[in-house]
Amino acid sequence: MSESQWETVRVTVEEGIGWLEFHRPDKRNAMNPTLNAEMAEALQALDRDENVGVVVLTGAGDAWSAGMDLKEYFREVDNGPLWRQREVRYDSQTWQFRILRHFSKPTIAMVNGWCFGGAFIPLVSCDLAIAADEATFGLSEINWGIPPGGMVSRCLADTVGSRDALWYIMTGETFDGRRAAEMKLVNKSVPLDQLRDETTKLAKVLLEKNPVVLDAAKNGYKHAADMGWEPALDYLYAKLEQSQFNDRSSGRSEGLKQFLDDKAIRPGLQTYQR
Ligand code: COA
Repeated sequence: MSESQWETVRVTVEEGIGWLEFHRPDKRNAMNPTLNAEMAEALQALDRDENVGVVVLTGAGDAWSAGMDLKEYFREVDNGPLWRQREVRYDSQTWQFRILRHFSKPTIAMVNGWCFGGAFIPLVSCDLAIAADEATFGLSEINWGIPPGGMVSRCLADTVGSRDALWYIMTGETFDGRRAAEMKLVNKSVPLDQLRDETTKLAKVLLEKNPVVLDAAKNGYKHAADMGWEPALDYLYAKLEQSQFNDRSSGRSEGLKQFLDDKAIRPGLQTYQR
């Protein structure tokens, strides 16, 4: 994977962390059709890269992402044929939701600045999220004449309560990183100058865990949330057994050995040594 392989996306790999950057700082990292297609390619490359254990999605410059590109994703497509509208929608959904939400590796949204409208989809698709206190979020759609687009409303229903969701959907008011954390749209917020360190610390915690089990755990949780209890039970056992089948390091028996026989760890307090 080379740094300059894409026009609107940058990838840097450092110590097991794949830093995936929206890279249109002049346009506040608005998501145009090129970026949507390139993000899918970059994520697939990060999936294949065995040096990457965690992916952090962040933005170049002072924006995380100003949402969908109002010119290239909306206005230019509005006047074209319907197949073009289906095509650009498909490309945005492919990475923002289908690939990212169920990515095989843990994902962290590191929200460094502006985060509007459609950007809430990749934000919520990431497993975990840390924002800068100074970041500015907003559901700006109402301010330019549409209800929240794509899966934005569904993403809010998955994270914040309905009073807060409707407040921001209907008023278009902005809010900062602290408020985003209070509403549980993100896990936490920290001052901007600590954001990268805090995110790196979290990524390193995840890098210590068994990657096969992490994949089963996060995707088990996400799919089971949409199921009834009996199918969820069956599915989650299948997921657990799948993870043991795919885990060539036999983590479960090693973890049990380190606790029960070696008395080297207490799993309530620390992870087993891989
Ligand atoms: N789509 C297309 N272009 C966008 C964009 C978007 N969502 N957000 C910013 N840009 C472009 C601007 O058109 C401008 O381009 P130009 O230099 O060619 O004129 C450039 O990015 C800088 O934008 P500007 O508004 O000058 O930056 P700012 O720092 O003063 O304000 C925002 C930043 C994010 C508050 C402001 O750009 C904005 O409100 N963007 C739209 C947010 C939105 O409604 N998103 C859609 C959600 S679906």
